[in-house]
Amino acid sequence: MEQQTLNGTKTKKLKKHITSVFQDEQELLKSIIEIHSPNGIELDPMYFKGKFYKTISRPKFKSDINPQSQDVLEADARKLPYLNNSIKSMILDPPFMFGIHGKSDKYYASTTHGIFKDFDELYLTYEAIIKEAYRILKPNGILIFKCQDYTDSKTTMVHCHVYRFATLQGFYAKDLAILNLPKNKVSNPNLNQRHLRKVHSYFWIFQKLKEVSANSSQQ
Ligand SMILES: C[S@@+](CC[C@H](N)C(=O)[O-])C[C@H]1O[C@@H](n2cnc3c(N)ncnc32)[C@H](O)[C@@H]1O
Repeated sequence: MEQQTLNGTKTKKLKKHITSVFQDEQELLKSIIEIHSPNGIELDPMYFKGKFYKTISRPKFKSDINPQSQDVLEADARKLPYLNNSIKSMILDPPFMFGIHGKSDKYYASTTHGIFKDFDELYLTYEAIIKEAYRILKPNGILIFKCQDYTDSKTTMVHCHVYRFATLQGFYAKDLAILNLPKNKVSNPNLNQRHLRKVHSYFWIFQKLKEVSANSSQQ
């Protein structure tokens, strides 16, 4: 874009570059869409209450294993009702907490309350939803994956596992945005701090590079 100066010469109007750390989730999503997916997000298969869409357009396809409203389809993100190579862009926001280490006599299944029983359940679910995203995305299609590292008695670098699953599957890790979370969580001052308190989450932007073969399974 060109701009006329007072002496009549033309200069190029410089656009401010967007940086990778955000304080506001809507601003983060708008920026990812502007740069990586200008037509918006087509599918959200972990829609919950749709808090991602306060100011950005709702996706054409919305589903959840435990839908919270009638306009959301019931579907498991590990086995979605879409053809191979049919979706342009999608977002995954799975539960990230797991294990309650005997603090309660029951665990909450990921399918209902959003806490995995243990790391193995998280691992297998993440692997399966990334595989399924790869199947349904068109070549060059975009997968936005929100995740967060998890610390209880030890830290699990969930975002590294997500990177590994996605790149092994054939995605290119095109970008990564970081969201600062509000720091108002209550903490117990009597406990010895052994890890940094996590106040950020990640939004990976993966791009599907290769074509899925016509014979690939839809499971
Ligand atoms: C963290 S919430 C998503 C929140 C949502 N992005 C929002 O901002 O409102 C995770 C959602 O994933 C859903 N979920 C968990 N496992 C699933 C699966 N296998 N398939 C589809 N949805 C699943 C849960 O029911 C829950 O609604």
